[in-house]
Amino acid sequence: MVKLSARALVLCLCLGLALFAGQPVAAHGHRGGGGGRKDKKDKSGGKQEDPRDTVKRVVTEAIGGNKGIGAALIRLVFHDCWVNGCDGSVLVDSKPYGSKAEKEAESNIGLAGFDVIDKIKSQLASPEKLSCADIVVLAAREATFNLSRGNIDYAVKTGRTDGVVSSASAADAVLPPSTFDFEQLKANFAAKGFDTRELVALSGAHTVGVAHHSSFADRLNDTTSTPISQDYKNALVEDIKKRPIQPNNIRDKDETFRNDAGYDDTGVNTTMAARGVLDNSYYHANLQNRVLFRSDWELRNDFSGQAGNAMETFKRDATQWYDEFGKAMAKLSDLPAQGPRFENRTNCRVFNTNNEY
Ligand code: HEM
Ligand SMILES: *[C@@H]1O[C@H](CO)[C@@H](O)[C@H](O)[C@H]1NC(C)=O
Ligand SMILES: *[C@@H]1O[C@H](CO)[C@@H](O)[C@H](O)[C@H]1NC(C)=O
Ligand SMILES: *[C@@H]1O[C@H](CO)[C@@H](O)[C@H](O)[C@H]1NC(C)=O
Ligand SMILES: *[C@@H]1O[C@H](CO)[C@@H](O)[C@H](O)[C@H]1NC(C)=O
Repeated sequence: MVKLSARALVLCLCLGLALFAGQPVAAHGHRGGGGGRKDKKDKSGGKQEDPRDTVKRVVTEAIGGNKGIGAALIRLVFHDCWVNGCDGSVLVDSKPYGSKAEKEAESNIGLAGFDVIDKIKSQLASPEKLSCADIVVLAAREATFNLSRGNIDYAVKTGRTDGVVSSASAADAVLPPSTFDFEQLKANFAAKGFDTRELVALSGAHTVGVAHHSSFADRLNDTTSTPISQDYKNALVEDIKKRPIQPNNIRDKDETFRNDAGYDDTGVNTTMAARGVLDNSYYHANLQNRVLFRSDWELRNDFSGQAGNAMETFKRDATQWYDEFGKAMAKLSDLPAQGPRFENRTNCRVFNTNNEY
């Protein structure tokens, strides 16, 4: 008990200091406020850069170097915010001893973009004014804006704080595996306050990015397979021999594969320039049974018809999907952090203080 209260006292002091030093993050367009810190070199020129501009700049640069990073950042916000809210817990590295951190969870296979988050943190004019949780949210926003060619533009607030818990088992307990059926997916999303239509809208994120063979092996195995286009399945079985990591969206395969798979590209932009673009082509693929994950295909198994209706709407009307996807992303980005206490990490990969959580 005595030890605990000493610890609590130190904690209170730290929190007090942090609160005292903490100022609300400048609103969009506001530059630095009166007499902001001048001791930190601004990488983009002389002036203090607005934190949102820093995020945009670093994310845009990163996508320029590697388009896949945009998809990684969009997935990162889902995997952070779904587990005890948006608290930056997914960014923490495991310690050499003790239990595994969140990013080691099975559901987090292939998770990436951590170096981009670190880069943003290191290039902020006032790094202490933006939490790691805020950076994850803002980075996903910018990635969504960029990959959608500016078509998806949603507003997010800042002011989140970072958590002090990061657990692989906690992540695996709440992140949906790709083998979930419709009722399980629906329940998983309902537990976070998301309805069927939002589930369908958010699953459209699988328009971009990639997956490991292990994430869709069940679909290629005759014992465990859920309905999938036979031509698509045959083409995949051949292709994974060479490429065990596949694009989520058949649109992003080459023309030979698409033809072999019998893909109907009516209404889909399949030019080279459109590869990797965040548009509504996921719904075209899904309604043709040409998606990788069981969880995607399962959206067709809604007896109420809601999920199917949403898919038809989003396939037909890209603008409608841009709007609803943006709204659902904003809602996801607002899931409140839950935890025993909070801090704003200096290094997004390491808790500021030692703790036993
Ligand atoms: C509905 C339940 C969902 C399931 C079961 C699921 C499952 C998966 C799986 C298994 C992968 C591939 C991982 C790998 O093998 O490398 C993946 C990738 C991805 N997921 Fe989901 N996901 C879901 C929802 C979401 C949501 C809500 C978002 C974002 C809003 C999202 C965004 C992404 C993105 C962008 C990728 C590609 C990542 C990359 O290329 O780095 N997913 N998802
Ligand atoms: C997206 O990023 C690329 C690569 O950096 C850049 O050329 C392009 O202008 C960006 N697009 C938008 C809409 O921000
Ligand atoms: C963390 O930073 C945010 C700004 O992103 C600020 O609003 C909040 O008060 C800070 N929290 C702590 C515990 O310092
Ligand atoms: C297919 O799934 C069954 C049941 O899970 C499993 O026993 C079998 O090993 C799988 N086959 C392949 C080729 O992975
Ligand atoms: C296809 O997408 C690319 C990239 O977004 C765009 O430049 C081009 O105009 C689109 N073509 C059509 C026919 O919409």
